[in-house]
Amino acid sequence: MGKKRESAIGNRETDRPENEARPSNQQGAIADSGLPIADVVPNAGYHIPVLLSEVLEGLAIRPEGTYVDCTFGGGGHSSHILKALGPKGRLLVFDQDADAARNVPDDPRVTFVPHNFRHLKRFLQLHGAPVVDGLLADLGVSSHQFDEAGRGFSTRFEAKLDMRMDQRQGKTAADILQTYSEGELHKLLEQYGEVTNSKTLARTIVEVRKTTAMDTTLAFRNAVSSVVKGNPNKYFAQVFQALRIEVNDEMGALKELLEAVPAVLAPGGRAAIITFHSLEDRLVKVFFRNGTFEAEEEHPFESRKRDNPLRLVNKKPIEATAEEQKRNPRSRSAKLRVAEKL
Ligand SMILES: C[S@@+](CC[C@H](N)C(=O)[O-])C[C@H]1O[C@@H](n2cnc3c(N)ncnc32)[C@H](O)[C@@H]1O
Repeated sequence: MGKKRESAIGNRETDRPENEARPSNQQGAIADSGLPIADVVPNAGYHIPVLLSEVLEGLAIRPEGTYVDCTFGGGGHSSHILKALGPKGRLLVFDQDADAARNVPDDPRVTFVPHNFRHLKRFLQLHGAPVVDGLLADLGVSSHQFDEAGRGFSTRFEAKLDMRMDQRQGKTAADILQTYSEGELHKLLEQYGEVTNSKTLARTIVEVRKTTAMDTTLAFRNAVSSVVKGNPNKYFAQVFQALRIEVNDEMGALKELLEAVPAVLAPGGRAAIITFHSLEDRLVKVFFRNGTFEAEEEHPFESRKRDNPLRLVNKKPIEATAEEQKRNPRSRSAKLRVAEKL
């Protein structure tokens, strides 16, 4: 049975030119409250949470329950999970970026875990919460990470080509450009960035690096400028996205997180995952439906595998309303899927 090929692009950063004006974080209002964003979301200058009411509804929070926010960031989602929790509730929040620590509220119900969520099971055990009632992951990078010039995530600034969310990790984007083979570069540019001429770009990088350092955003852009296709801002946004996904092994971490979900959720507990890239969304969809990463084509007539401990709460992914997309362009490519443990 032929399957329609999904586009690998759908990331919030590639949906718009990099230098397009960003929404002001302090303007506008959260749709369902009518209040200014800054009043509803602490640290809104750090990041505006996407699909906020949809996440809260999806998690169906029990006031006395234990929850995990795997991607704390500015704590926008977490602050609302906390509001729904009673005094006996508990919230464990993960973020591998040290900058996120400054946003952790002084609240005895909160435990901050400054590590990669790929180690979810281990750290939940360590903090005395091996089983939880709900889990959220809002994948990718925060606005803060894009807007911090020195982090090297954005094509808008001249900076070291770093792109590590976790500064303790060794490999930077510059290291990838310097050490990966032509074949490896081609594959990641094609799969994670859907760069139109990924093969030519990979060949050019390998050729140019023999004589030219490409360790800053500008040096890299200049070094490969002869092969840029179409709008340079869009082109480099796609290239940077591909490098960022590789630097942080975003697909590998997501796979490990998904594999941990059935074991860490209590019966009736829910996992809500927001993706911004169709490859990520596909991993979530297949795993929630089958409880494994086996190709879904093997079970074309079943909505889920019989021994899958998870059940999809919504058949289709939940997307941002037109109003939210207007207010926060980063929500345009967001897809939320929610699964429940049986
Ligand atoms: C899109 S932001 C989350 C924003 C948050 N929901 C909010 O409302 O402020 C993603 C955050 O997750 C973190 N992150 C991404 N992948 C991670 C991983 N594998 N392990 C731990 N943290 C991760 C990033 O450092 C970033 O701060």
